[in-house]
Amino acid sequence: MTTGSGFVFLVLACSIAAFAIASAVKDNNFTVVHVMNGLPKSSYPLKIQCESKNMHDRLGEQVLKVGDDYKWTVEKNEIYYCQALWFRFFASWHAFQPQRDLLNETVFWVVKDNGFFHSWDNSSWVRKETWQTE
Ligand SMILES: *[C@@H]1O[C@H](CO)[C@@H](O)[C@H](O)[C@H]1NC(C)=O
Ligand SMILES: *[C@@H]1O[C@H](CO)[C@@H](O)[C@H](O)[C@H]1NC(C)=O
Ligand SMILES: *[C@@H]1O[C@H](CO)[C@@H](O)[C@H](O)[C@H]1NC(C)=O
Repeated sequence: MTTGSGFVFLVLACSIAAFAIASAVKDNNFTVVHVMNGLPKSSYPLKIQCESKNMHDRLGEQVLKVGDDYKWTVEKNEIYYCQALWFRFFASWHAFQPQRDLLNETVFWVVKDNGFFHSWDNSSWVRKETWQTE
């Protein structure tokens, strides 16, 4: 192989690799997001509405009873933003963030009276958001 064809081969191999990576991150059809209602028993229902950035993927309004687990599969590699309403409280949070969650198969959220907790394994939780009032 001459130096010239070696170079062409390298350029070709790099562009194929770059293309493969680009197509792999273009969509994300495997991360499943769970939102669980962990509010106090017999409290007001929780209403949530989620959509991806630029509304490419819109999930309708959901009413979750205590204990419900609402889940969906992420279809766009972009931020999924959710709004929540509960009694006189409201909040919004990023249910899916590509930078944070892209390589995880599952993203769990539990909504409690003291806020919104994120986990990748349904056991170690980090609070990311709290409820607001007027
Ligand atoms: C992800 O799903 C969308 C819609 O169902 C489809 O158009 C796209 O080709 C899928 N992407 C991958 C990487 O599987
Ligand atoms: C989720 O992704 C993060 C960052 O890529 C990684 O550190 C963590 O181990 C993953 N967790 C699971 C349960 O896959
Ligand atoms: C998450 O953990 C809760 C409490 O341990 C359990 O009831 C639930 O089934 C788990 N969900 C999933 C999807 O593993």
